[in-house]
Amino acid sequence: MLIALCSAKGAPGVTTSGLAMALSWPRQVVLAELDPVGGDVLPGYGRGEPFAGGLADLELAARRGGLARHLDSQLLRLDPEGRARLLPGLADPAGARHVDWNRLAAVLAAVEDGAVDVVADCGRLRAQHFPAAVVQRAAVVVLATGSTLRAVRAATQAIAELREREACPGMLRTLVIGPGEPYGEREISEALGVPSVGSLPRDPKAAAVLSDGAPAGRLFTQSPLLRAARTVATRLVESAAAHESRLTPPPAPVPAPGTFGGSRVR
Ligand SMILES: Nc1ncnc2c1ncn2[C@@H]1O[C@H](COP(=O)(O)OP(=O)(O)O)[C@@H](O)[C@H]1O
Ligand SMILES: [Mg+2]
Repeated sequence: MLIALCSAKGAPGVTTSGLAMALSWPRQVVLAELDPVGGDVLPGYGRGEPFAGGLADLELAARRGGLARHLDSQLLRLDPEGRARLLPGLADPAGARHVDWNRLAAVLAAVEDGAVDVVADCGRLRAQHFPAAVVQRAAVVVLATGSTLRAVRAATQAIAELREREACPGMLRTLVIGPGEPYGEREISEALGVPSVGSLPRDPKAAAVLSDGAPAGRLFTQSPLLRAARTVATRLVESAAAHESRLTPPPAPVPAPGTFGGSRVR
């Protein structure tokens, strides 16, 4: 299942939230860094870990054919078991204009036949080379927003844009980062006319581990941010599964022996 994460202007926290959710995901997951302005996880959470690969290499492989075949070799483990893996984003944003988002979206939507979820960090809407094709292919599109008046205004425009310009057919959901500044999750969801998938609290300590590789203390996995990310991830998986089962027509009834097309064969 492909889940696209994006933000309106002035709503920082998409990458941190995506990573927090990927680390807490209830199934196998790939966090795909598709932000056209470049990937942040390796320089941040990965503390500059060198890795010659990721999205840029995948794009080169795709030009030689067989993008799906090459995807696995471009993924890095985010946890020791490899339940969460990372497709590192572009080190050089100049490469964004060469990425065929359409082709990539098709592959990401079908990763391991749907047995593995993909959370795509698409960055900010309206950015140049925004991966619109990924948003259009996603089962769920999550718009991350802050809770200030300014952030909610920007989110209102972003929702209209997602509905009209991007014409995203997937489920649209909001994710509030830092609720209560001053608006709450419910108020925001009502104002935007879009259901909410939850909220992530302001938690600078845990956020710094994820965005800048600050040392993770013993209580990192129990931090407010990680705990909330677990709840949001679980809700996302559940609602996306319910949506998919609504889209999948029930199997046709098996005709009784001796019948054809509802009428008895003589
Ligand atoms: N829930 C949060 N609580 C506190 N700080 C956060 C939270 N989420 C993100 N941040 C901080 O905001 C900054 C930008 O985060 P980032 O995820 O890189 O934003 P984006 O991907 O939208 O540009 C980072 O310094 C990060 O630590
Ligand atoms: Mg980012």
